[in-house]
Amino acid sequence: MAAPDRTGSASIPELIRKKRDGGRLEEVEIRSFVQGVTEGTVQEAQIGAMLMAIRLQGMDLGETEILTRALAESGQQLQWPEAWRRLMVDKHSTGGVGDKVSLILAPALAACGCKVPMISGRGLGHTGGTLDKLEAIPGFSVVQSPEQMRELLEQAGCCIVGQSQELVPADGILYAIRDVTATVDSLPLITASILSKKAVEQLSTLVVDVKFGEAAIFPSQERARELAQALVGVGARLGLRVAAALTTMDSPLGCCVGHGLEVEEALRCLEGGGPPDLRDLIAQLGGSLLWLNGQAPTLAQGAAQIGATLDNGSALGQFQAMLEAQGVASDLARALCSGSPAQRQGLLPTAPTKEELKTASEGTVEKIRALPLAQVLHELGAGRKRAGDPLHFDVGLELLVSVGQRVSAGTPWIRVYHRGPGLSPSHRQRLQEALRLSGREPFVPDPCLRELILPPSMKG
Ligand code: URA
Repeated sequence: MAAPDRTGSASIPELIRKKRDGGRLEEVEIRSFVQGVTEGTVQEAQIGAMLMAIRLQGMDLGETEILTRALAESGQQLQWPEAWRRLMVDKHSTGGVGDKVSLILAPALAACGCKVPMISGRGLGHTGGTLDKLEAIPGFSVVQSPEQMRELLEQAGCCIVGQSQELVPADGILYAIRDVTATVDSLPLITASILSKKAVEQLSTLVVDVKFGEAAIFPSQERARELAQALVGVGARLGLRVAAALTTMDSPLGCCVGHGLEVEEALRCLEGGGPPDLRDLIAQLGGSLLWLNGQAPTLAQGAAQIGATLDNGSALGQFQAMLEAQGVASDLARALCSGSPAQRQGLLPTAPTKEELKTASEGTVEKIRALPLAQVLHELGAGRKRAGDPLHFDVGLELLVSVGQRVSAGTPWIRVYHRGPGLSPSHRQRLQEALRLSGREPFVPDPCLRELILPPSMKG
């Protein structure tokens, strides 16, 4: 154990040194660090140093489990009526570009009779955050007390909220510091961050969408599989039924990236439309949840149930109820959820300047690299440079072509919404380089979902 300080508790510099040098932290040491983070007695520089030590040296499953428990216990545990116990489900993503799945899946699951108490995150690195997207809707409040969450679930069947002083406060602090200290891509830190939020929710079943590819936290499928196994394994140690879906993240999910535009695309999906890759992923993740939670006999039937809620308007109804319950004025919520995209014009933030780029040659769209697109949007104000920075919700981009499609030279392929005056030559060049054309025949892209790692209780 590290040397105690004069007050008898472990000294933070000693703990940092121990982890920096590859040591294994004891339970009391991890708990003392997390307690200091929560109480504000550990300085930000020390938090950053400890996060970097963990990023570089890793943690074993036992340390990760203790870190998860300590983060979860830094705030209150949610309590639900006994009748809801088997209905509590959630989905979480490790983060991608254009990933607006939670906005659609939470109300779709609610429309299937589930209760979804989603504690979500903000943008991390170049990836977008569900809370930031929802805050693009005027009036939407992600700060909700445990008591309010219960009311929200009664009214809408789902809610999407953030960490607060009451809910996993220590994860909120670590999350913001990781974002600006290059410590996002740490397997134990991601595992503890995700599962601490979910442990507090007292779930019956959780599915984590673990992304891999150039624009994911972990580009390689092997590394993403390790993360998926850690999430499933630590979940089991915590008594949580967790499955992990390995899904691709090379091209953006759907056609829109950027907060306001992603909400608009989510609404189109909730109306039964939207891009096929987005709808398919929602159906697969939701179908797995319904199946694993015993609410559908097979994954395919679960996926069909989710698809039906998008087609029959019931998911959209739950979304509208969630908006109203979380602070959006009723007339705005109604206008967002009952109008056409044209009628919604002006209701969601859209930047005043639109610029389209054209294809330089003909070919088949092989890939639209999400990473440079996200990096350019970040620089245009859609992401944070410092923890707590405000975001431009109106900045974004719309893809006008899809992967697998044949295009001729001079076809407009991307529309960028920004605050002017014009895109810089470097932005234009990086955006153009994101489009990869090939000489092959047009094709139908493979579905995003590549592997589903089941909880131990579901394995034969
Ligand atoms: N989502 C989280 O909540 N935490 C992470 O570290 C990554 C994605």
